[in-house]
Amino acid sequence: MEPSTNPRVEHTTQDGDGAPHDVCVVGLGYVGLPTAAVLATRGQRVAGVDTRAEVVETINAGRIHIVEPELDALVRAAVAAGTLRAFPKPVPAAAFLICVPTPFDAHHRPDLTYVEAATRSLVAALRPGNLVVLESTVPPGTSRDLVAAILAEAGWRPGENVFVAHAPERVLPGAVIREVVENDRVVGGVTPACTEAGADFYEKFVGGEVLRCSAETAELVKLAENAFRDVNVAYANELANVCDRLGLDAWEVIRLANRHPRVNILRPGPGVGGHCIAVDPWFIVAVAPEHTPLIQAARRVNDERPHNVVAQVRTLAERFKRPRIACFGLTYKPDIDDIRESPALEVVQALAQAELGEVVVVEPHLSTCPVAGVALVSAEEALKTADIVVVLVAHRAFTRLRREWFTRPSVVDTVGLLSR
Ligand SMILES: NC(=O)c1ccc[n+]([C@@H]2O[C@H](COP(=O)([O-])OP(=O)(O)OC[C@H]3O[C@@H](n4cnc5c(N)ncnc54)[C@H](O)[C@@H]3O)[C@@H](O)[C@H]2O)c1
Repeated sequence: MEPSTNPRVEHTTQDGDGAPHDVCVVGLGYVGLPTAAVLATRGQRVAGVDTRAEVVETINAGRIHIVEPELDALVRAAVAAGTLRAFPKPVPAAAFLICVPTPFDAHHRPDLTYVEAATRSLVAALRPGNLVVLESTVPPGTSRDLVAAILAEAGWRPGENVFVAHAPERVLPGAVIREVVENDRVVGGVTPACTEAGADFYEKFVGGEVLRCSAETAELVKLAENAFRDVNVAYANELANVCDRLGLDAWEVIRLANRHPRVNILRPGPGVGGHCIAVDPWFIVAVAPEHTPLIQAARRVNDERPHNVVAQVRTLAERFKRPRIACFGLTYKPDIDDIRESPALEVVQALAQAELGEVVVVEPHLSTCPVAGVALVSAEEALKTADIVVVLVAHRAFTRLRREWFTRPSVVDTVGLLSR
């Protein structure tokens, strides 16, 4: 293959094989599928890739496998128009976006095996002048030392005949379709030419500003955002623990403290969940363990929080013989169906195991309860029969429930639903 030395990437079909795709999105989950669908409905010919056969099949049938507002209509329209098609492995395209998971292992060390596999899988589809963007959240150094290194190992020269950049995704689940387009994007290449190539790509469809930097800076920016949130939530959670110890209302304390013109304490909760805020701070710790005592302490405070909630319920349960404990919410945040890394789920699992009484769950976003031995019931039934109510998620559906229904049972309100 004749290598190109042109640092500008033309995001149309340019390669010698006449590839029919402008963009190949590798990993069609919560980030990849909305990105693919948005690009496909904006005139790009998009190939989506997923290693799970059922995901490929579902998308090619014009359907979706995740819950995200407006996504089903976009995917249906793009598949019908022929601008989006899913494949089991990468196909040639002008740009490749890697959107695969980046979890951590049992010791909180980043697990980059999906990024490595995705990068290796696209090598065969790569053509001179192509752009490879890592969108997955990763520790600083990954775009250069893993992605670019794998391409270099295969004979490519990043910055010369292929372009490698990191563009972290900061979308909010539930608002992804809008945020994928409207948010500012930080784009960092492994060389200045790679930064330009990456920024060119995003400037074509991003309405927000595209901010250029190095790959390592872009990688740390994303982690810094989520660690900031984690540390601040940890402070609110620590205050909630203190208030519980002193018998004070944390919501009242925080509301009054926030009347100070330069104070803005966040809301406590049952812990920190999801696959970003509870995970990403560890990626900073991984590269600078001795310089991150605050980040590590915040992680511990937030990880401990579900146990603090269970302890509160345990104290209440001592007043009953075999209390009926109704838990409101299982997801990791309001108004979504995602229970990955959910502290609410952790609380319910711990309560079920503690055998303090009968545990039931109210979760309008799920059709079954994933915790063995715990029934899913309606809010009305739960409030009629519960001795103890534990509010774990501030779903909109719960804010519509009448306040006086909560007066009969004992309540542990971890999200301040009743103080709003
Ligand atoms: N979900 C979010 O709100 C969000 C926000 C910002 C950043 N991120 C980051 O984006 C990345 C992706 O997250 P997600 O939530 O979309 O994950 P996800 O689990 O929803 O989706 C990832 C998809 O990649 C597929 N996959 C795994 N290995 C593959 C491979 N080698 N080739 C092709 N497909 C493969 C999986 O089958 C899955 O469908 C992660 O690094 C995450 O931290 C997520």
